[in-house]
Amino acid sequence: MPDTTRRSTPGRATPALLALAGLLAAAPAFAQADAPAADGQTSFNNSCRTCHALNEGDHRLGPSLAGVVGREAGSVEGYGFSSALARADFTWDEARLDAFIENPDAVVPGHNMKPFPGITNADERALIVQFLASGG
Ligand code: HEC
Repeated sequence: MPDTTRRSTPGRATPALLALAGLLAAAPAFAQADAPAADGQTSFNNSCRTCHALNEGDHRLGPSLAGVVGREAGSVEGYGFSSALARADFTWDEARLDAFIENPDAVVPGHNMKPFPGITNADERALIVQFLASGG
């Protein structure tokens, strides 16, 4: 008597199941793409590090941000600031930094920190500011 159950080929399901498992495994990564980065260092690396270093005197496209919290704006030695920043008359504190990285034009009109789109996510700004305030 022929065994009819042999006609079903359970092995065929495996690639489809593997593909589904792959999609499920990838889903959390997609979900995180728009969420704020988990820590300030990562956010700094993503948004600032192209142009800013954290070692004293290490100026790149932008000035070193070593000790920026508590520093007079546009004052660090050895960096050629725009006249807008050089003339700015305030000390960087956490509120000022937060406002600057949200929308630099609103804090220092005529600045030269470009191209920089601004960070709309308040949680992410807070992480970066805390990271800078804690010495980077
Ligand atoms: C595309 C390059 C670029 C990126 C990205 C960038 N900056 Fe800047 N940044 C600059 C430049 C250039 C200046 C100097 C602007 C001027 O002289 O007007 C500057 C100036 C600054 C200053 C003023 C420093 C001082 O001594 O007064 C701060 C604070 C600052 N940036 C913070 C940040 C932070 C925080 C980030 C990330 C969220 C960031 N920047 C991202 C290029 C950049």
